[in-house]
Amino acid sequence: MAMRKAVIFDLLGCVQTPRPRQIFRKYEESLGLPRDFIYKTVEKRPESALHKAEKGRLTFTQMISELEAEFQKGASDEGVSLPPQFLVQKLFEDTREAVKFNTTILETAAKLRHQGIRTCVLANTWMDDSAQREGTARILSVLHGHFDLVLESCHVGARVPEPAMFSLALERLSSAPQQVAWLSVVEPNLKAAQDMGMSAILAEDTSEALKKLEVLLGVELLGSDVHPISTNPEEVAHGFVTIKPGVTTHFVDVGEGPAVLLCHGFPESWFSWRYQIPALADAGFRVLVPDMKGYGDSTAPSDIEEYSQEQICQDLVTFMDKLGVPQVTLVGHDWGGALVWNMAQFHPERVRAVASLNTPLFPVDPNSDPVEKLKSLPIFDYQIYFQEPGVAEAELEKNLERTFKIMFLGGKRPAVSTADVCKRGGLFVGLPEEVPRSSILSETALKYYVQQYRKSGFRGPLNWYRNIERNWRWFCSKPRGKLLMPALMVTAGKDPVLLSVFSMGMEAMIPNLTRGYIEECGHWTQMEKPVELNKILLSWLRDVHQKASITVSPKL
Ligand SMILES: *[C@@H]1O[C@H](CO)[C@@H](O)[C@H](O)[C@H]1NC(C)=O
Ligand SMILES: *[C@@H]1O[C@H](CO)[C@@H](O)[C@H](O)[C@H]1NC(C)=O
Repeated sequence: MAMRKAVIFDLLGCVQTPRPRQIFRKYEESLGLPRDFIYKTVEKRPESALHKAEKGRLTFTQMISELEAEFQKGASDEGVSLPPQFLVQKLFEDTREAVKFNTTILETAAKLRHQGIRTCVLANTWMDDSAQREGTARILSVLHGHFDLVLESCHVGARVPEPAMFSLALERLSSAPQQVAWLSVVEPNLKAAQDMGMSAILAEDTSEALKKLEVLLGVELLGSDVHPISTNPEEVAHGFVTIKPGVTTHFVDVGEGPAVLLCHGFPESWFSWRYQIPALADAGFRVLVPDMKGYGDSTAPSDIEEYSQEQICQDLVTFMDKLGVPQVTLVGHDWGGALVWNMAQFHPERVRAVASLNTPLFPVDPNSDPVEKLKSLPIFDYQIYFQEPGVAEAELEKNLERTFKIMFLGGKRPAVSTADVCKRGGLFVGLPEEVPRSSILSETALKYYVQQYRKSGFRGPLNWYRNIERNWRWFCSKPRGKLLMPALMVTAGKDPVLLSVFSMGMEAMIPNLTRGYIEECGHWTQMEKPVELNKILLSWLRDVHQKASITVSPKL
């Protein structure tokens, strides 16, 4: 097997701070015990109950009762009198409460993974059978979500710094010691790894440690913005809901907490939210991401009426009913943006809050023909071209790889003008056969889009555009009050079609509107500016759902 570069992190003191010894010291100080009395009793003696629990020979609650006896003995050996307030249970509860993830390290792990370097955590930990074990579950879940490999000492049967722990990690990472960097804040742990041939880096000062890691691995870790973690389709849960006989919605379902449902636009996929899914799930939300009707692994009925906004809203309500989810916070982009505004207006009970990227809430004019209105705006000419069934399908399906390369270009210059499309006789007319792939679209992502469109092609997606009059009649038939729920409108400075000026005046219809704006961003906001977008989304979502502002700080 080919040997690979890898980075292994020590959980205690490096991925999680502070180090246990510091927490013990605080407790000692609060009770007037001699400095490091606790550390000497539980950590230094090789056969202590702590070590036994960490090697999986005692559970957490068994450890606590054995430790009671050890402290009694330790106290009498040292001539220390234990005050009645000294409680082992309390000591470990304090330890749990004090612990925080070091977000710099978590972000570093994401960057390393992004560059194809394997990441691992070695955790000296016990099987937690206590009443507070939910906190431990959260920690493990965060670790499993951020690192390729998590080795828990209690399941391995050896603890850091024992060689068996390191050997197993090397084996599972398919790496030779010379290709591995080990980060820890504990001297003996550093030395043990060095003795085995690994590069040991003292992580006391995070930025110094990261500089060393950069040199060692030849990758950039500092400076540039953190690249958010992307979703690997094979690493997340996929579900299917039957909406009605023969019509099924495929969706991705990640995380736990209030439900946030992400609706993509044209011509995209659930996968267009790949950079948002992990960030939102990490922040404590259940992220539901369907392939919208006609796309990917969802069914693509051929009838145009199946794609009216009324029908698609109804489908979304059925989707929620069948999942047993009463309310969601909706986030939509492009056509998904239009959809979420319609959901918020016509099914407000089911919508906790609503956010749209690029697509404003357009006013409806009951007195003017909607097709004529569209024709009066030259940049929307592509929508007129999309009307005749079969025509745009043929052009867009001809060479899927080329189609997505042309479509997914970042920034202000689209490869094609969306005006004069009918006159040109096609969206891509005049473009060279070979077009370069933009940096916003990795080769793997491009392949994924192509593969997703092999199944149903463009007919379903294009049908979303073919209900102009039907949608308009539906809008006009409904009462339209102000939208009172919390709302977010994110505009992009360089979107060539959904111009940010279109959103002017939305406050008149939506009193509680929060705004986000990304200047250097074209139409494909989720993949063009994931860092900026995630920041805007998370700050609004936390505000709406009254969540704490620290990304990953499990309260144990
Ligand atoms: C991460 O831990 C290091 C100590 O290893 C500390 O200096 C740094 O401030 C921590 N960073 C965060 C964001 O917690
Ligand atoms: C407006 O929305 C925010 C969330 O963005 C919420 O915290 C606030 O309570 C809302 N205000 C009103 C008046 O509804």
